[in-house]
Amino acid sequence: MRELDKNMRDCTTCARSSSDDLVFFVNGKKIVETNADPEMTLLTYLRRKLGLPGTKLGCAEGGCGACTVMLSKYQAHTQNLTHYAVNACLAPICSLHLVAVTTVEGIGSVARQLHPVQERIAKAHGSQCGFCTPGIVMSMYALLRNNPTPKMADVEEAFQGNLCRCTGYRPILEAYKTFTVEGGCCGGKGRDNGCCMKNSKAEENEADVDMASKLFNTADFAPLDPTQEVIFPPELMTLSKSEKTCSLQFRNDRAVWLQPATLDKFLNLKWKHPDARVVVGNTEVGIEVKFKNMLYPVILAPAFIPELHKVIYTDEGIVFGAACTLTQVGEVLKEAVKELPSYQTQVFLAVLEQLRWFAGQQIRNVAAVGGNIMTASPISDLNPVFMAASCKLTLMDKDGSRVVQMDDGFFVGYRRTVLRPQEILLSIEIPYSRKNQFFSAFKQSPRREDDISIVTTAMSVTFTPGTCVVEDVRLSYGGMAATTVLAKKTANKLLGRCWGEALLEEACSSLAEELTLDPSAPGGMVTYRRTLSLSLFYKFYLTVLQKLREQGLNVEEVRSDLLSATEIYHQETPSSVQIYQEVPQAQNQDDVLGHPLMHLSALKQATGEAVYCDDIPLFENEVYLALVTSSKAHARILSVDSSAAECSPGFICCVFARDIPGSNKSGLWHDESVLTDDLVTCVGHVIGAVVADTQVHAQRAAKAVKIQYEELQPIITIQEAIAAQSFYKTIRTLQKGDLEAGFKQADHILEGETHIGGQEHFYLETNVTVAVPRGEDDEMELFSSTQNPSETQSLVALALGIPSNRVVVRVKRMGGGFGGKESRTTILSTVVSVAAHKLRRPVRCMLDRDEDMLITGGRHPFYGKYKVGFLKSGKLLALDVSMYSNAGNSLDLSQAIMERALFHMENAYSIPNVRGRGFLCRTNLPSNTAFRGFGGPQGMMIAETWMNDVAQSLGRPADEVRQMNLYKEGDVTPYNQVLDQSTLDRCWDECMFRSRYQQQRAAVELYNKENRWTKRGLAIIPTKFGISFTAVFLNQAGALVHIYTDGSVLLTHGGTEMGQGLHTKMIQVASRVLGVPCSKIHISETSTQTVPNTSPTAASASSDLNGAAVRNACQLLNERLEPYKSKNPKGSWEEWVKAAYFDRVNLSANGFYKTPNIGYSFETNSGRAFNYFSYGVACSEVEVDCLTGAHKNLSTTIVMDVGVSLNPAIDIGQVEGAFMQGLGMFTLEELHYSPQGVLLTRGPGSYKIPAFGDIPTELTVSLLRDAPHDKAIFASKAVGEPPLFLASSVFFAIKDAISAARTESGITGPFRLDSPASAERIRNACNDRFTKLCPPAEPGTFQPWSVQV
Ligand SMILES: Cc1cc2nc3c(=O)[nH]c(=O)nc-3n(C[C@H](O)[C@H](O)[C@H](O)COP(=O)(O)OP(=O)(O)OC[C@H]3O[C@@H](n4cnc5c(N)ncnc54)[C@H](O)[C@@H]3O)c2cc1C
Ligand code: FES
Ligand code: FES
Repeated sequence: MRELDKNMRDCTTCARSSSDDLVFFVNGKKIVETNADPEMTLLTYLRRKLGLPGTKLGCAEGGCGACTVMLSKYQAHTQNLTHYAVNACLAPICSLHLVAVTTVEGIGSVARQLHPVQERIAKAHGSQCGFCTPGIVMSMYALLRNNPTPKMADVEEAFQGNLCRCTGYRPILEAYKTFTVEGGCCGGKGRDNGCCMKNSKAEENEADVDMASKLFNTADFAPLDPTQEVIFPPELMTLSKSEKTCSLQFRNDRAVWLQPATLDKFLNLKWKHPDARVVVGNTEVGIEVKFKNMLYPVILAPAFIPELHKVIYTDEGIVFGAACTLTQVGEVLKEAVKELPSYQTQVFLAVLEQLRWFAGQQIRNVAAVGGNIMTASPISDLNPVFMAASCKLTLMDKDGSRVVQMDDGFFVGYRRTVLRPQEILLSIEIPYSRKNQFFSAFKQSPRREDDISIVTTAMSVTFTPGTCVVEDVRLSYGGMAATTVLAKKTANKLLGRCWGEALLEEACSSLAEELTLDPSAPGGMVTYRRTLSLSLFYKFYLTVLQKLREQGLNVEEVRSDLLSATEIYHQETPSSVQIYQEVPQAQNQDDVLGHPLMHLSALKQATGEAVYCDDIPLFENEVYLALVTSSKAHARILSVDSSAAECSPGFICCVFARDIPGSNKSGLWHDESVLTDDLVTCVGHVIGAVVADTQVHAQRAAKAVKIQYEELQPIITIQEAIAAQSFYKTIRTLQKGDLEAGFKQADHILEGETHIGGQEHFYLETNVTVAVPRGEDDEMELFSSTQNPSETQSLVALALGIPSNRVVVRVKRMGGGFGGKESRTTILSTVVSVAAHKLRRPVRCMLDRDEDMLITGGRHPFYGKYKVGFLKSGKLLALDVSMYSNAGNSLDLSQAIMERALFHMENAYSIPNVRGRGFLCRTNLPSNTAFRGFGGPQGMMIAETWMNDVAQSLGRPADEVRQMNLYKEGDVTPYNQVLDQSTLDRCWDECMFRSRYQQQRAAVELYNKENRWTKRGLAIIPTKFGISFTAVFLNQAGALVHIYTDGSVLLTHGGTEMGQGLHTKMIQVASRVLGVPCSKIHISETSTQTVPNTSPTAASASSDLNGAAVRNACQLLNERLEPYKSKNPKGSWEEWVKAAYFDRVNLSANGFYKTPNIGYSFETNSGRAFNYFSYGVACSEVEVDCLTGAHKNLSTTIVMDVGVSLNPAIDIGQVEGAFMQGLGMFTLEELHYSPQGVLLTRGPGSYKIPAFGDIPTELTVSLLRDAPHDKAIFASKAVGEPPLFLASSVFFAIKDAISAARTESGITGPFRLDSPASAERIRNACNDRFTKLCPPAEPGTFQPWSVQV
């Protein structure tokens, strides 16, 4: 390091100490950091050093946008101010010299004044759990700073890098549409060229007079006044203008950040330190450091070097300095496309097309073009374009430069190039295209927005002038080898050939031979990738053919039905309609029950003031914990060596099983351990923990703990478990009628099987616990992000060997739960408590996203086998279904989940003879657990699979067969529950009507006739969801209501708030019963010391249960206040309360509720399993690109029965949020496990939840009107889980489209399509001439990269 100092001093013009002052501004305040840490990110700095917790940590890998902030810089060379959104989780603090940072706290607050961006997202119901909200607010804010009158397309682009797991995105877009030139309207792009705001479907029905479709009122919004924005700090402007750029260096004990002022100095440093890492955007290096444990002792930042940022126009093309950001490159190329003749800009257009789908804006704003090239990733999106275009790269060291062409010689191996260690990439020249040259680029990824490629390609062909004879061709591919490659052999074969069918044939068979992949290739999807390489060439072929024809050349005409294969993906701006019933006119104006009241924390969430668990300021003496987990799926622990950890900086202590003062038994059934000490049964099994002074020290020390194992044979998949008969004991059977007789009577019997993949909860806030010892009597206070405070309390008490009355668990809010925080949170909270107990100090741990995904399990994968008997008409007679779930390494909630799957095995259809059996596979995966729907969606999915098969085998429309078998009022379920107050038929009819099903069906058929390579599909799917915990004892709830002498009311109940709006609804309930406005009622938190023995907030039943308990408590208080109201009828609430108080009346009441008349026995198949059912129906239309497997969600119409809605805005939010989560489950989200049980998808980079662009272009949600019932609070119904399954309508619409594609190849009848309907599965199912050229390898002959678990 001393050598380095000297070198840096030699290079600098200014006198330097070992670390310079880093000067930047945060929210207008100057920060002079004298000790800037080269390894610290802006996010850590904001949250930990500046105490600004509004900016959230969701993933630490640039994939979720929760950490978005705006940076502003004065650019001396252009004399311009630039504002741009970035991911604070990847921005090194050292890169911020003379930069102004604006965080969500800097633009507005509830106390001061809200910024319109904050106000509108809240008031338009775009914030549920709120954890994503600050990031979304800042993306929008940055957009408006640059463009106060954006188009909707700009808004959509600005959100490519933001994820939300709760809202389903629609309300966010709706909120921000109000800033756009379209002005809250689709601009006439609604259905039939109508206006989306007009709600044409609603208007058709004159009877819908009591319907409302406005969930918020734009008149309430403060206008946006760009002149009022926070100004760029004047002092920073002066500093930026005056400071002569001089070199900087920042260091910590492991690394140094060098930011030289000139190119010479930069090259000298690189010469002296060939291993130094050049860092521009840090979007690649940041990931390597965080997730691959890389240490770069010398970091070279070229931020000050003009040559690396220059853009020069030459005769040949445009030269970009290697440090130009992708945003800059895009802007320059867009201008060039506008100005230059179109034949010159074909390559530019291809780069722009790739940039459209390259990461999100936050990444593109900082990531450099040189960074993408030099990372040399085999799935880089730009390198294939640069290679196909023969771009020239200038490489340089201190002795001079050389120019190399980007061709197959440039990449010399996986992530390696010809660049010498002392060299840097100076610039890249992107050439103009020539006359007679055609150029295209394609990218196929699992999700369109912000996703890395599966296969990415660029293709260039040049023809002999005036002919269709190929003179030159370059086909470059990413994703087909360890480097970007050129398909040279194929290209050679095409030279001199005419562009026509024969050339296509030759090219395809040659590509199939040339671009082979080992069946075990990393990344998997081998057959798909190979097929894609041909299909994408075919798209190029057609595109060029079409253009040649347009130029008047004598080539084959492209048939009109093939044309859609040449279209570039175009995203329509979504439009939506929400319909709900207005409250009766007679309802008291102060009574807000039934009104679309905003989530009561929404404003705080939008300003960053809402406090989540990890936002709690550090306690004095607090320390941080990191878990030590197993890297083997099944093994005996031979030894644990923590000596290296003990020597690492900041180390405080280790925690192992021997440190547990109480019992090491944990889990719902005490079949788990807090810390395992002999056997590990999954990758991610918690073995121990390390506590250190900071998070980074704890995590580094935890990684230094060495564990030796004796490996045992693991069981990973359901099929392996079946082969080994590895099941948890209880095998459930649910049977009714006479199965044998049913099958005998049937005209047809059909058998089949299907697999439904698991799902990661991906709550934006990962698991977090802060445990604070209270100093006496072993008392422990826990702040935890849990849906289950009582279970947390009892398992912590068990581990600490103390009674439950010494443990208090407090939950203010969660950043999403979805079932993932129902039981698995105790994995973390018990360990943190043990550490806090051992140290007698507060201990905190928030899991990193990758740890959370690895350890905490998710939705159970299911495998279903079925046999179904039916008449010629399609009427069902008998069903025998076996379901196998992958339960993982502990029982947890798997049995209850399987029971719910069995309770939903017939979905919404009446079948006289049924048998369902459920098997829980014991495997070496992390225990799978509750997830919205709790087994119901898997059970129903299997049902809809056989239902689809029945219709297809009969050749009858699926909607007719479905409708014919729908339950009717009075029908009896397989578990002998009579359906009363059923609204299924009403939901069905309304959905058919609103979706204009028959018209849509006709249009789909016409479209499919006219298009060979894109197909549309349509499906209408019902759902019936049973409401109640299936464990009877959980159907109880408590509430505690205090009235204070000033009339304010403090409400507590047993439910936790995770974004679903429970607290808002509970306040509405209390407000109605007490007859006081909501503003007088407050909920502070959920805690075990106010309401004990609570059930988890789950099963969609929390409003029913807690609402009834709240009503009970409020009624008691009303009774006590009644004498004072009677005595003084004109008095105010405050006067009655005061009078009662002075009269010594107890103004605190405890409410309680238990659901009456429920309880079911599997043994006797009797008793009521559910209190009631929620019903819904959805119809979806999709368009599938048969060549790539990509699909577009064109439209969805949902009709949902939520009874009499307590709050239509919240209920519609739940419907849309659940629908989008289901859409993820059934079409997008895929967890990949290695055959050894290692989860390979551990973050948003590899695991794709739906993004903004995935919402249906037209989305109609209608809450069924006039549907009161008598089973739940104020005639409302549960809504959290039931709508999720409706997303399967998208899956079956996809299946419908695939059927149309298969028909073109002469294949008809039922076929298997497992869930999710990923692009890979869709493409592979669309059998055609290209798939034939790429047959899959014989199963069993190779070790796949990932297995279906
Ligand atoms: C969320 C996310 C999404 C992404 N999406 C995509 C995507 O869609 N498509 C895609 O292709 N990539 C994607 N990436 C990868 C990455 O963003 C790009 O490769 C990016 O261009 C890297 O640029 P950077 O400036 O951030 O690189 P850095 O991380 O700063 O550096 C990357 C590497 O390049 C080297 N390097 C940089 N400049 C030079 C130079 N001048 N001379 C020599 N070496 C140099 C560095 O030493 C380092 O090894 C994504 C990354 C993230 C985090
Ligand atoms: S936390 Fe930064 S993008 Fe997810
Ligand atoms: S509100 Fe967006 S993640 Fe919860």
